Amino acid sequence: MKTNIFLIGFMGSGKSTIARTLKDKYHMRLVEMDEEIEKREKKKISQIFADSGEAYFRELETELLTALSQQENTVVSCGGGVPMREQNTAVMRRNGKVVYLSTRPETVFERIHEQHHRPLLEGNMNVAYISGLMKERMPYYLAAADITVGTDGRSADEICEEIKRNFDE
Ligand code: S3P
Repeated sequence: MKTNIFLIGFMGSGKSTIARTLKDKYHMRLVEMDEEIEKREKKKISQIFADSGEAYFRELETELLTALSQQENTVVSCGGGVPMREQNTAVMRRNGKVVYLSTRPETVFERIHEQHHRPLLEGNMNVAYISGLMKERMPYYLAAADITVGTDGRSADEICEEIKRNFDE
């Protein structure tokens, strides 16, 4: 695809899987924001939160996103908190298309309840908490998105084909 694609959505909404599938199917470059931040800082995300706090991590996200402005034909798998900052949303909308992967809280829980690398969910890994945080974030996701794609019960191929249909010239 010619355009850059920014995948946004809650933790566990499938951004990484969809990003990899878009990369393989449509020969795009891939940037996984969390991985890139870990590489730059030489630390895991949870260690960055523990050592320097969430505000510092949010600065790293904005820096990275801004640095990506030069890319083309790239799919960016964004951290779940990226669209909470208006500045980040402006950068994404200026540089490509924003795709919101929408997922039910129950599905998120099913997918990630055994994982432990997300500091915001440590000690909060239950459907009620996920659902509350998702509700808070939903207006930001919707405001940032060019399109919203449901992911519950659908294959990665199906989702990627829907994304391509929307943006391919
Ligand atoms: C976060 C989502 C995580 C990671 C960090 C914070 C969030 O990324 O950036 O733990 O605020 O939603 P994923 O959405 O890739 O899990």
